This record gives sequence, C-alpha cells and structure tokens, in this order.
Amino acid sequence: MKNITKDNLTDTVKSSFRRIDDERTRHLVNRLVHHLHAFATETQLSHEEWREGIAFLHRAAEISSPSRSEFTLMSDVLGLSSLVDLLAARPGATEGSVLGPFHTRGSPWMTSGANLIKNNPGQAVLIRGRVTDVQGQPLTQASIDFWQNADNGMYWQMDDSQPQDNLRCQIQVLSDGSFELATLRPQPYLVPTDGPVGELLGVSHRDAWRPAHFHIIVEAPGYRSLITEVFDDADPWVDKDAVFGVRASLVRPFKPESDAATAARLGLPEHYLVVDLPIRLAIQD
Ligand code: BEZ
Ligand code: FE
Repeated sequence: MKNITKDNLTDTVKSSFRRIDDERTRHLVNRLVHHLHAFATETQLSHEEWREGIAFLHRAAEISSPSRSEFTLMSDVLGLSSLVDLLAARPGATEGSVLGPFHTRGSPWMTSGANLIKNNPGQAVLIRGRVTDVQGQPLTQASIDFWQNADNGMYWQMDDSQPQDNLRCQIQVLSDGSFELATLRPQPYLVPTDGPVGELLGVSHRDAWRPAHFHIIVEAPGYRSLITEVFDDADPWVDKDAVFGVRASLVRPFKPESDAATAARLGLPEHYLVVDLPIRLAIQD
C-alpha cells in the first residue's frame, strides 16, 4: 500500500499517466498535473474555492452549444488563446490573432474585386491585399477566407435581420498574389456576457468590448496557415481588447480615397476608405 501524502501525491499522479503512448500528449498531461498541483499548493486552495471553480466550469458547459463555446471564450479572456497565437509566430510572417466564434466553414467563393456591401448600411471600405512569402515573393495559389460584423456590430449568425453569409466570402488571389475586396468598416462589439465568462469580467470590472476588426484566414500550399485579424486604428477600443488580440502590426489606417475609376470598377460610392493589407506567410516546417 502506498501512503499518499502531500509530498508524494504530485509525482504519483504524474506516474499514473506514464503509459500514454503519444510522447507529446504524455508530456502535456505531465506538465498539466505539475502546474495544477503547484497552483493549488501555492494558493492553498480551499474546498469552497475548489467547489466554486468546478461549478464555474459546469456553468460554462451548460451554456455551451455547437454554435457557442464558453470554454473558448474563457481561453480568450484569460489571454491563453493569444499566448498560443504568439507562441506560433514565425519571424517575418504576419502575426496571428484570435479566431473567435463566428468563423464557419463554407463561405461563398467569390473572385478578387468582389463587393460584399449589397444592402448593408455603413462606410464603404476597399481592402487591397497581397499575399507573399517572408521574402516578398507572391504566393499565387493563396486563398483568403474573410468575415466581419455589420454596422450594428453583429455577425450574420447572431442577427435574423441579416441574410445568410452576409459580409463573408472566400477568394483566390490573382497571379501576382494580390486581391481586392469591397466591404464595410467593421464595428466594435461586446463579447457574450450572459455566461460565466461574463461573471468573471463583471467581478473583475473588465470591459467586454472588442475593437472593430476584419477576420481573415490565409492559406497557401506549402505555407503555414494564418488566422488573423485586422484592426481599425481609429477605434477607441483598440488598446482595450477584451481578448488581447491586438498586435501593433495588425492595426491599420482606414484612409479616405475617391478615385472615380476604382469606385466604378468595384461598385463603391464616390468616397470610400482604403485599407492596405500586406500578408506574409511562413513556410511550412
Ligand atoms: C470575435 O472576434 O468575433 C470574438 C473573438 C473572441 C471572443 C468573442 C468574439
Ligand atoms: Fe470578430
């Protein structure tokens, strides 16, 4: 019989996982046990606090559904999602940022120069992008998956007044790696606060706002996929993102332009804003 004590418990638990076949999984579980136990010991976690933590996780599970992951939101507001993004960064490549809950696969395919504005109110924006490798060579096979919120701050999935697939698309870049997209200025919005993550933000006196942003996923054969965001530098929340997704390199000016030929070609109004979007992908390692 092994007498379990405060001094041998952590090693005993680690050892119970030593037969996990996959080496990386075994390492992750070992370090998880190590740091969980260190946290409880360092904080002298009480029964009441432990029970409250478990109840918090239960409430997160109860409010989660196939279209809502309170656990991902928890990871976001704790900065874990951003830390994983920052750890995945590669020198010279465009920085990553949080995926968020509003990406769904299967956006409509459109061609470069597509106009997503349709009947949406808001300020017209032309995104001019170019996808290259870290040396600046065009990636001619790259594709872009794009989504954003409407002028009322809502994504189409949250808002019955918007048509399906509103303000989202996929496009293939042109032969020089470039693409253009006519869309709207995105708006800041609140992350969901009706679940336990909202309780956590509330007791912490933290804001739930995210600064206005576009989301993009960029893929090219042989290159690391990039999940990132582009932020409006004029947004008042740009320094106070509830999920810590802002990187200086991802904050762009929305510059006024009124070129009649461009406006006519892309179906833009006379006055529109332009966002230049160079994207650099790192080679797959
Ligand atoms: C979003 O960008 O849509 C988002 C990201 C993290 C949490 C909630 C929303
Ligand atoms: Fe978003």
